[in-house]
Amino acid sequence: MKRIKAVYPGSFDPPTNGHLDLIERGSKIFDELVVAVLRNPEKDPLFSVAERRTMLEAMTSGFDNVSVETFDGLTVEYAMTVGASAVLRGIRAISDYEYELQMALMNRKLQPSLETIFMMPAEQYSYLSSRLVREVAQLGGNIECLVPELVAQKVREKMDPALKFVEQAERKSAQRQTRSRKKRS
Ligand code: PNS
Repeated sequence: MKRIKAVYPGSFDPPTNGHLDLIERGSKIFDELVVAVLRNPEKDPLFSVAERRTMLEAMTSGFDNVSVETFDGLTVEYAMTVGASAVLRGIRAISDYEYELQMALMNRKLQPSLETIFMMPAEQYSYLSSRLVREVAQLGGNIECLVPELVAQKVREKMDPALKFVEQAERKSAQRQTRSRKKRS
């Protein structure tokens, strides 16, 4: 039987609950799903490609048929290289449609054998985007319900690098206390 492998390309800066929702939906209909983070040297991202990959790997560790990779160049070429026959993209609202249609048709022109499959995330994520998450976080807003906790943590550290050291120190102190309690008992 033919196995369908799909690529889900994107910037994922940072990955959101909307992305995770789409990954979950994609993992149910494709045999294999490759979440592909674009290495785009022109953008000035909040997170490095390696950081985004690590977050996505942690977010998707529960899905057996999902992997996370990085790529540059054309999505269609990357998809062909990994043996994918479909590209997965999310459409949240009509406003996404024009850009997504243009991209899908261009990709079809470049590689007619590759199909673009659009899926809609759950309604509660229909307003959610990485750009808004970055903006809300930069202005001190709460992003807790918008991204997985591990991403929220990384975003907080980006906004306030000192936080990382405070949290590391707190973790180490808690570990020391647990060890000394164990020794005493
Ligand atoms: O998450 P994004 O930023 O909306 O993802 C856009 C992405 C990465 C899918 C798009 O920019 C892309 O495919 N870039 C790779 C270069 C390419 O193939 N360009 C032609 C697209 S028609």
